[in-house]
This record gives sequence, C-alpha cells and structure tokens, in this order.
Amino acid sequence: MSNITIGIIGGTGNMGRWFKDFFSRAGHTVLVAGRKTPVLPLDTAKKSDVVILSVPIEAALAYAEEIGPILSQDQLLMDLCSLKETILTSMLRFTKAQVVGTHPLFGPFTDSIKGQNIIVCPGRGTGWLKWLEDELRRKEAVVTRMDPVTHDRNMAVVQGLTHFLTVCMGRTLQKMNMSPDEAISCSTPVFRLKINLIGRLFSQDLSLYASLIGANRHVEDALATFMSAVDEAKESLLSGQKGRAIAYLDDIRSFLGDFCQDGLKESNKIL
Ligand SMILES: NC(=O)c1ccc[n+]([C@@H]2O[C@H](COP(=O)([O-])OP(=O)(O)OC[C@H]3O[C@@H](n4cnc5c(N)ncnc54)[C@H](OP(=O)(O)O)[C@@H]3O)[C@@H](O)[C@H]2O)c1
Repeated sequence: MSNITIGIIGGTGNMGRWFKDFFSRAGHTVLVAGRKTPVLPLDTAKKSDVVILSVPIEAALAYAEEIGPILSQDQLLMDLCSLKETILTSMLRFTKAQVVGTHPLFGPFTDSIKGQNIIVCPGRGTGWLKWLEDELRRKEAVVTRMDPVTHDRNMAVVQGLTHFLTVCMGRTLQKMNMSPDEAISCSTPVFRLKINLIGRLFSQDLSLYASLIGANRHVEDALATFMSAVDEAKESLLSGQKGRAIAYLDDIRSFLGDFCQDGLKESNKIL
C-alpha cells in the first residue's frame, strides 16, 4: 500500500512526535492534532487512512468514542497506549473501522526502532494489521502478537511492579534522609545504575507512571505475589543461617536456569 495518510491524535506529544518522524521517513503523509493545534482531531481523522491515538489512556478512551463512529470500514483505528484491554474494547465498540492495538515497549528517547519490542493486539480486520506489521518489521522492530489481557498481565510486572519498586526505593532514600550525593559517593556500578533509574523516573511525566501502576488492574495481584516473596526472602536471608539463605537463592537460580549467564553478559555491557 502506498500514498497512505496517517493522522496522529496526540502527534504533538513525545511518542506522537516519534512516530510522526518514523512514518514520515517511511514516505507517508503524516497529519498531527493535539489540544492546541488549529486542526481538530476529528478533522484529522476524516482525512486519514490510518488514525493513531497517541494520548494518555483516559483521553484515548474518550477519543475512541468521539472519533470511532465517523470512521469507515476502509480505515484503521489504532493506539499506542501502554495498557491494551480497555482501549481495545472501546475502539471495537465505537467504530466499524479496522482496529489494532499496539504498545511500543520503548520511549521517545530511543534512536532507532531496530531491535525494539512492539506488542500488537489484533482487533478487527487483517489488511491494515499486515500493513502495520510489515512497516514495523521492515525497520527491524521485533513485533509480537498478543491478546490484550495477557499483555496487561505481563505489563503488571514489566512496568507496574518495576516502577512501583523504583518509587519505593526513592521513598526509602527520602525516609532515611540519604541524599543522592551521599548515595553516589558510596555507590557501586550496580547501585549507580539503580539510582540513575530512580532519577530517570522522577524526571519524567509523573501522571504517565501513576497510570502505568494505578490503571492496570493486574498490578494488585503482582504486588501481592511480590509481598509474599518479600516475607519469604526476609525469613530466609535474615535467618542468620547461611545454609538456609543459600538454599533459598539456589531455588530461584534453578528457576531462572541458563538465563542467569545471559543476564550477566547483557548487564556487563551496560555497566
Ligand atoms: N512515553 C513513553 O515512554 C511511552 C511509551 C510507550 C507508550 N506510551 C503511551 O503513548 C501515549 C502517549 O504518551 P506520551 O508519552 O507521548 O505523552 P505526552 O508526551 O504527554 O503526549 C500526550 C499527547 O496527547 C495530547 N492530548 C490530547 N488530549 C489530551 C488530554 N486530554 N490529556 C493529555 N494529553 C492530551 C497532548 O496534546 P497537547 O499538545 O495539547 O499537550 C499530547 O500531544 C500514552 O498512552 C502512553 O501510555 C508512552
């Protein structure tokens, strides 16, 4: 398919600008709409073959309801939201257009899509789905199809729990009154990486992180499992019995298997 017009609602934002560049460089015409652009989202959608919702999840749900009904079966409605269950349900409910949910597992600071993961949740139709996957794979993205519930359950760990731990680590430094300067003066390379990741989270849009944790209904389960792991780890590692502590660690190592060596190599590259 050539001469495709792509309308990005939220094209003035971080991910919207990133995908505007991506699709423009691939030779497509890209229109953008934000809350302050002269062109309204609805008008942008009317002129586009492909409409991308690149706005916070709450706004995406509202735009699916507003824009969905004016789209035809020949158009594609897709989104870039970090959660997939509610937005897929909403897009399918409010439009007859083809529907695809996507979640780019990278942020706007990424230089190239090559080697980056993108989850694709098929919604309705196959023509535009194939077009999109081809566009992404042509630039060597790693595209994985997944149903929305499985995606959100996985993200409860990959994003929800991970960011939750980073927030709690930042709060712990605050409660212990350990300043970043003091922490850095004693840091190992591993801790340096961790404290940089804390700074990274708090330097960005806090409402995005609040959503990644708080809007995913599966985070509560992941957190309950994590809290039970904390209790076990406390009992074993703080038992004063080295044999018991090592047996506990060894049990986890046997679950992770060969990945431990892969993880060592990968993290050595970063450190
Ligand atoms: N940032 C990431 O690392 C990342 C990664 C993967 C997926 N995502 C997902 O991509 C989507 C966009 O994220 P982003 O980081 O690009 O956000 P962002 O930089 O804050 O951009 C949001 C865009 O949405 C527009 N917008 C329209 N209605 C809005 C409303 N009611 N409230 C707020 N903004 C509204 C904004 O328009 P104005 O021009 O009026 O401000 C702006 O263009 C989110 O669903 C997010 O979960 C983000």
